[in-house]
Amino acid sequence: MSGQDQIFIFDTTLRDGEQSPGASMTLEEKLQVAEILDEMGVDIIEAGFPIASNGDFEAVSEIAKRTKRSVIAGLARAIHADIDRAGEAVRHAERGRIHTFVSTSPIHLEHQMKKNEAQVLDIITDTVTRARNLIDDVEWSAMDATRTPIEYLCRCVEAAIRAGATTINLPDTVGYATPDEYKSMFEQIRARVPDADKAIFSVHCHNDLGLAVANSLAGVAGGARQIECTINGLGERAGNAALEEIVMAVRTRSDALPYACSVEPRFLTRASKLVSAVSGFPVQYNKAIVGKNAFAHESGIHQDGMLKNAETYEIMRPEDVGVKATSLVMGKHSGRHAFRQKLEELGYEIGDNAFEEAFRRFKDLADRKKHVYDEDIEALVENEIATQGEQIKVIALTVIAGTGANGKAILTLDVNGRHETRECTGDGPIDATFNAIKEIVPHDAKLSLYQVHAVTEGTDAQAEVSVRLEASGRMATGKGADTDTLVASARAYISALNKLLARQNRPDHQELKAV
Ligand code: KIV
Ligand code: ZN
Repeated sequence: MSGQDQIFIFDTTLRDGEQSPGASMTLEEKLQVAEILDEMGVDIIEAGFPIASNGDFEAVSEIAKRTKRSVIAGLARAIHADIDRAGEAVRHAERGRIHTFVSTSPIHLEHQMKKNEAQVLDIITDTVTRARNLIDDVEWSAMDATRTPIEYLCRCVEAAIRAGATTINLPDTVGYATPDEYKSMFEQIRARVPDADKAIFSVHCHNDLGLAVANSLAGVAGGARQIECTINGLGERAGNAALEEIVMAVRTRSDALPYACSVEPRFLTRASKLVSAVSGFPVQYNKAIVGKNAFAHESGIHQDGMLKNAETYEIMRPEDVGVKATSLVMGKHSGRHAFRQKLEELGYEIGDNAFEEAFRRFKDLADRKKHVYDEDIEALVENEIATQGEQIKVIALTVIAGTGANGKAILTLDVNGRHETRECTGDGPIDATFNAIKEIVPHDAKLSLYQVHAVTEGTDAQAEVSVRLEASGRMATGKGADTDTLVASARAYISALNKLLARQNRPDHQELKAV
């Protein structure tokens, strides 16, 4: 690696990723994500938007206190109160950063900010100075940079550097740029702005045209050395550039992309699974690097080549990104010790209570399922992690379904320690189950997503169900896994409902959010 330029990976899964509707995470979930990002070597973790809510503030501040290695950034609009709050949230970090942004494009200035160019220049100087008075590490972003005339963008960047910004981020906020344009923007800015070499330039690309990763790498070719990205490409609309794709592109094509990057790729699969579990956003099967089929070779010709020499069709090895060969794990005779060892091997560290509950569910699963695979254990533990401390739990479910009659469900829930049972009918067994939940816990949330996928092969495979609920502009996604699809559905619904209830008292995120 010596002699190569270092690129810094700035992960914004917990801020831009979490902003995508329905992807909100609890504090516990954010801490888990931050921990793995730190462990895998991400240089900067944008942990949230502290002014957005007390929950966001607490998450950034807790992550700042616990993180050992990565710089912890808090986002702030170009408003003193935002900047002060972000400064307060990252105060206890070993290395903290305030990331402040303002729009610079004519369309944003006219319609959103209702300010002229001179006013925005003053705002940049004022707010970056404010942030620098609180902390040495200040990042400034020009929102909608790619639709900003280059002359004006140069003046904005100059003002930010003069006021003390140490990182300059030029986002493709609406995912509009092409790689050539994006590269040229960085080249021009770096050539024209006085003291441009005093700052590190950063890319931040949205994926509306599917160009986020290509644009990010083009920005690096144009001189940027920080890449803002998210696990699984989670983020607003079509998402952000996917961290795993960037890291593996740089690793795999070091001949064409001669940069050093400190992220350790064998954590990528685990991080992807964790983010998918806590955000409730499934990873598409053919997603590069972390999709279920990313390393599967089905066609005869490919399989033949692979058997002769893996390099005929494989440019990366699955184990490089942390994919393990599917292995048969344990059966119903396996004990606690073996189960704990398996969890360690899969990279899970869970507390004693969660372990006991996961072990109980493993035994239950092993009684019902002939072969228990690593994927089964992962689904079970992810489920256990996601449901810890929930106020409502599924205790029992009996369903009657078939031709010629309505579905019927008899459901028992534990609601804050009290067991309640209802019998309901519905348009099929799932509808009946969800109706029973609504009777026990009356609410007006609407179901906006119901998805089922099999964790492994075979008719005894566990079903993993995702449910998204929406109420008063808030969304929450829950997941449930079980060999019985209906039990998994009830668990997923209850998990989403628990998240919605937990957020009921939080101030609305949406009105404060950045693009
Ligand atoms: O896309 C964007 O412009 C942003 C900024 C807040 C950096 O997310
Ligand atoms: Zn963004």
